[in-house]
Amino acid sequence: MDHIENFTQDFFAPNVENWTRWLAEYRGKPGVRCLEIGSFEGRSATWLLKNILTHETSTLDCYDLCQSPWIERFEANTRPWRHRIRMRCGQSFWTLREIEGEYDIIYIDADHSPFGIMCDSVLTWPALKVGGILIFDDYLWLPADLAPGGGTGPEWSYDTARQAIARHPMDAPKTGIDAFLAAMSGHYELIGHEYQVAIRKTKAVPQKPQPEPAPSRWPAWLTKAFRG
Ligand SMILES: C[S@@+](CC[C@H](N)C(=O)[O-])C[C@H]1O[C@@H](n2cnc3c(N)ncnc32)[C@H](O)[C@@H]1O
Repeated sequence: MDHIENFTQDFFAPNVENWTRWLAEYRGKPGVRCLEIGSFEGRSATWLLKNILTHETSTLDCYDLCQSPWIERFEANTRPWRHRIRMRCGQSFWTLREIEGEYDIIYIDADHSPFGIMCDSVLTWPALKVGGILIFDDYLWLPADLAPGGGTGPEWSYDTARQAIARHPMDAPKTGIDAFLAAMSGHYELIGHEYQVAIRKTKAVPQKPQPEPAPSRWPAWLTKAFRG
Protein backbone atom coordinates (compact mmCIF):
# COMPACT_ATOMS: atom_id res chain seq x y z
CA MET A 1 0.00 0.00 0.00
CA ASP A 2 1.21 3.54 -0.76
CA HIS A 3 2.42 5.61 2.16
CA ILE A 4 0.12 8.62 2.65
CA GLU A 5 1.38 11.42 4.88
CA ASN A 6 -1.12 13.34 6.98
CA PHE A 7 -0.11 16.66 8.57
CA THR A 8 -2.35 19.29 10.18
CA GLN A 9 0.30 22.03 10.19
CA ASP A 10 3.39 23.02 8.28
CA PHE A 11 5.99 24.74 10.45
CA PHE A 12 8.72 23.44 8.20
CA ALA A 13 8.31 24.63 4.58
CA PRO A 14 10.11 28.00 5.11
CA ASN A 15 13.24 26.13 6.27
CA VAL A 16 13.75 23.94 3.23
CA GLU A 17 16.05 26.27 1.29
CA ASN A 18 18.42 26.87 4.23
CA TRP A 19 18.43 23.24 5.38
CA THR A 20 19.21 22.01 1.87
CA ARG A 21 22.30 24.25 1.90
CA TRP A 22 23.38 23.81 5.54
CA LEU A 23 23.06 20.01 5.49
CA ALA A 24 24.22 19.31 1.90
CA GLU A 25 27.40 17.52 3.03
CA TYR A 26 25.32 14.85 4.85
CA ARG A 27 22.88 14.08 2.04
CA GLY A 28 23.07 10.38 1.13
CA LYS A 29 26.13 9.82 3.33
CA PRO A 30 26.25 6.51 5.25
CA GLY A 31 26.03 6.41 9.03
CA VAL A 32 24.79 9.96 9.63
CA ARG A 33 23.33 10.32 13.13
CA CYS A 34 20.72 13.01 13.70
CA LEU A 35 18.94 13.99 16.91
CA GLU A 36 15.72 15.98 16.93
CA ILE A 37 14.10 17.46 20.04
CA GLY A 38 10.47 18.29 19.22
CA SER A 39 9.03 16.04 16.54
CA PHE A 40 5.25 16.69 16.74
CA GLU A 41 3.60 15.08 13.68
CA GLY A 42 6.92 14.33 12.01
CA ARG A 43 7.15 17.11 9.43
CA SER A 44 10.83 17.96 10.01
CA ALA A 45 11.60 14.26 10.61
CA THR A 46 10.13 13.14 7.27
CA TRP A 47 11.92 15.96 5.44
CA LEU A 48 15.24 14.88 6.98
CA LEU A 49 14.64 11.22 6.15
CA LYS A 50 13.64 11.94 2.56
CA ASN A 51 16.30 14.53 1.80
CA ILE A 52 19.36 14.14 4.05
CA LEU A 53 19.27 10.85 5.98
CA THR A 54 18.67 8.95 2.76
CA HIS A 55 21.30 6.27 3.29
CA GLU A 56 19.95 3.05 4.83
CA THR A 57 22.53 3.29 7.63
CA SER A 58 21.63 6.84 8.68
CA THR A 59 19.40 7.26 11.73
CA LEU A 60 17.17 9.75 13.51
CA ASP A 61 16.72 9.83 17.30
CA CYS A 62 13.64 11.83 18.34
CA TYR A 63 12.74 13.27 21.75
CA ASP A 64 9.21 14.48 22.37
CA LEU A 65 6.43 14.56 24.96
CA CYS A 66 4.59 12.08 22.69
CA GLN A 67 1.14 13.51 23.32
CA SER A 68 -1.86 12.04 21.57
CA PRO A 69 -2.97 12.45 18.79
CA TRP A 70 0.37 13.86 17.54
CA ILE A 71 2.43 10.79 18.41
CA GLU A 72 0.07 8.53 16.45
CA ARG A 73 0.38 10.89 13.48
CA PHE A 74 4.16 10.89 13.88
CA GLU A 75 4.21 7.11 13.79
CA ALA A 76 1.97 6.95 10.71
CA ASN A 77 3.88 9.70 8.85
CA THR A 78 7.29 8.18 9.49
CA ARG A 79 6.30 4.50 9.03
CA PRO A 80 8.52 3.85 5.95
CA TRP A 81 11.62 4.74 7.98
CA ARG A 82 10.58 3.30 11.38
CA HIS A 83 13.56 0.88 11.42
CA ARG A 84 15.88 3.91 11.39
CA ILE A 85 14.02 6.03 13.98
CA ARG A 86 14.06 5.86 17.76
CA MET A 87 11.51 7.90 19.73
CA ARG A 88 12.15 8.72 23.38
CA CYS A 89 9.08 10.11 25.18
CA GLY A 90 9.09 12.54 28.11
CA GLN A 91 10.37 15.96 29.12
CA SER A 92 13.65 16.42 27.34
CA PHE A 93 15.53 17.81 30.34
CA TRP A 94 15.11 14.35 31.89
CA THR A 95 15.29 12.09 28.85
CA LEU A 96 18.31 13.80 27.26
CA ARG A 97 20.45 12.80 30.20
CA GLU A 98 20.55 9.31 28.70
CA ILE A 99 21.80 10.15 25.22
CA GLU A 100 24.64 7.98 23.98
CA GLY A 101 27.21 8.39 21.24
CA GLU A 102 27.86 11.36 19.00
CA TYR A 103 25.64 13.12 16.50
CA ASP A 104 26.28 14.88 13.18
CA ILE A 105 23.12 16.98 13.26
CA ILE A 106 21.00 18.24 16.17
CA TYR A 107 17.70 20.10 15.76
CA ILE A 108 16.10 21.89 18.74
CA ASP A 109 12.39 22.65 18.34
CA ALA A 110 10.69 21.61 21.60
CA ASP A 111 10.12 23.67 24.77
CA HIS A 112 10.33 27.31 23.58
CA SER A 113 11.02 28.86 27.01
CA PRO A 114 14.54 30.29 27.56
CA PHE A 115 15.12 27.64 30.24
CA GLY A 116 13.90 24.84 27.96
CA ILE A 117 16.15 26.00 25.12
CA MET A 118 19.16 26.20 27.43
CA CYS A 119 18.52 22.71 28.82
CA ASP A 120 18.19 21.20 25.35
CA SER A 121 21.31 22.90 24.01
CA VAL A 122 23.52 22.31 27.08
CA LEU A 123 22.50 18.65 27.39
CA THR A 124 23.10 17.87 23.71
CA TRP A 125 26.15 20.01 22.89
CA PRO A 126 28.74 17.56 24.30
CA ALA A 127 27.20 14.86 22.06
CA LEU A 128 27.57 16.95 18.87
CA LYS A 129 30.62 15.96 16.85
CA VAL A 130 33.22 18.64 16.17
CA GLY A 131 32.20 19.73 12.65
CA GLY A 132 28.57 18.80 13.34
CA ILE A 133 25.64 21.19 12.97
CA LEU A 134 23.15 22.43 15.58
CA ILE A 135 19.98 24.17 14.38
CA PHE A 136 17.63 26.14 16.63
CA ASP A 137 14.10 26.79 15.39
CA ASP A 138 12.01 29.90 16.10
CA TYR A 139 14.75 32.38 17.04
CA LEU A 140 12.30 35.27 16.53
CA TRP A 141 9.16 33.53 17.80
CA LEU A 142 6.81 34.84 20.50
CA PRO A 143 3.44 33.46 21.58
CA ALA A 144 0.68 34.80 19.27
CA ASP A 145 -0.75 37.16 21.92
CA LEU A 146 2.65 38.91 22.25
CA ALA A 147 3.92 38.74 18.65
CA PRO A 148 3.36 41.66 16.25
CA GLY A 149 0.19 40.98 14.25
CA GLY A 150 -0.23 37.71 16.14
CA GLY A 151 2.94 36.42 14.46
CA THR A 152 1.74 36.72 10.85
CA GLY A 153 0.63 39.37 8.39
CA PRO A 154 2.10 42.75 7.43
CA GLU A 155 2.80 43.89 11.03
CA TRP A 156 5.33 41.08 11.51
CA SER A 157 8.92 41.77 10.36
CA TYR A 158 12.36 40.87 11.75
CA ASP A 159 12.52 44.39 13.27
CA THR A 160 9.06 44.37 14.87
CA ALA A 161 9.66 40.83 16.15
CA ARG A 162 12.95 41.88 17.77
CA GLN A 163 11.27 44.91 19.36
CA ALA A 164 8.47 42.75 20.79
CA ILE A 165 10.99 40.20 22.10
CA ALA A 166 12.88 43.02 23.84
CA ARG A 167 9.63 43.78 25.71
CA HIS A 168 8.91 40.10 26.53
CA PRO A 169 12.30 38.39 26.80
CA MET A 170 11.14 35.62 29.13
CA ASP A 171 8.58 34.44 26.55
CA ALA A 172 11.09 34.15 23.70
CA PRO A 173 13.39 31.29 22.60
CA LYS A 174 15.83 34.03 21.49
CA THR A 175 16.73 34.71 25.15
CA GLY A 176 17.82 31.09 25.67
CA ILE A 177 19.54 30.81 22.28
CA ASP A 178 21.50 34.05 22.82
CA ALA A 179 22.55 32.88 26.31
CA PHE A 180 23.85 29.58 24.92
CA LEU A 181 25.67 31.30 22.02
CA ALA A 182 27.31 33.74 24.44
CA ALA A 183 28.41 30.90 26.75
CA MET A 184 29.90 28.90 23.84
CA SER A 185 31.58 31.83 22.10
CA GLY A 186 34.72 30.58 20.33
CA HIS A 187 33.37 27.01 20.12
CA TYR A 188 31.32 27.37 16.96
CA GLU A 189 31.02 29.03 13.57
CA LEU A 190 27.73 30.77 12.79
CA ILE A 191 26.28 29.43 9.54
CA GLY A 192 22.76 30.87 9.70
CA HIS A 193 21.14 33.66 11.74
CA GLU A 194 17.66 34.43 10.48
CA TYR A 195 14.34 33.02 11.76
CA GLN A 196 16.40 29.95 12.57
CA VAL A 197 19.95 29.90 13.94
CA ALA A 198 22.47 27.31 12.74
CA ILE A 199 25.99 26.77 14.07
CA ARG A 200 28.83 24.40 13.28
CA LYS A 201 30.78 23.10 16.27
CA THR A 202 34.46 23.90 15.92
CA LYS A 203 35.86 22.90 19.32
CA ALA A 204 35.28 19.98 21.68
CA VAL A 205 34.05 20.59 25.21
CA PRO A 206 37.14 20.43 27.43
CA GLN A 207 37.16 17.05 29.21
CA LYS A 208 38.77 16.76 32.61
CA PRO A 209 40.76 13.54 33.15
CA GLN A 210 38.63 11.06 35.13
CA PRO A 211 40.49 10.29 38.37
CA GLU A 212 39.96 6.98 40.16
CA PRO A 213 37.19 7.57 42.72
CA ALA A 214 38.59 7.95 46.24
CA PRO A 215 37.78 5.02 48.54
CA SER A 216 34.55 5.71 50.41
CA ARG A 217 34.78 6.52 54.10
CA TRP A 218 31.17 5.37 54.62
CA PRO A 219 30.31 1.80 55.63
CA ALA A 220 29.59 -0.35 52.55
CA TRP A 221 25.98 -1.10 53.66
CA LEU A 222 25.21 2.64 53.82
CA THR A 223 26.55 3.59 50.36
CA LYS A 224 24.78 0.53 48.88
CA ALA A 225 21.49 1.58 50.46
CA PHE A 226 21.94 5.16 49.24
CA ARG A 227 22.78 4.17 45.66
CA GLY A 228 20.03 1.56 45.55
C1 LIG B 1 6.77 23.00 17.27
S1 LIG B 1 6.56 21.31 17.61
C2 LIG B 1 7.83 20.53 16.68
C3 LIG B 1 7.58 20.60 15.20
C4 LIG B 1 8.41 19.67 14.37
N1 LIG B 1 9.84 19.87 14.56
C5 LIG B 1 8.04 19.84 12.92
O1 LIG B 1 8.75 20.52 12.18
O2 LIG B 1 7.01 19.32 12.52
C6 LIG B 1 7.15 21.17 19.25
C7 LIG B 1 7.18 19.76 19.81
O3 LIG B 1 7.99 19.80 20.99
C8 LIG B 1 7.46 18.93 21.94
N2 LIG B 1 7.88 19.42 23.27
C9 LIG B 1 7.55 20.57 23.89
N3 LIG B 1 8.15 20.66 25.08
C10 LIG B 1 8.91 19.54 25.23
C11 LIG B 1 9.77 19.05 26.25
N4 LIG B 1 9.97 19.72 27.39
N5 LIG B 1 10.39 17.86 26.04
C12 LIG B 1 10.20 17.15 24.91
N6 LIG B 1 9.39 17.58 23.90
C13 LIG B 1 8.75 18.76 24.06
C14 LIG B 1 5.94 18.98 21.76
O4 LIG B 1 5.35 17.78 22.22
C15 LIG B 1 5.83 19.19 20.24
O5 LIG B 1 5.60 17.96 19.59
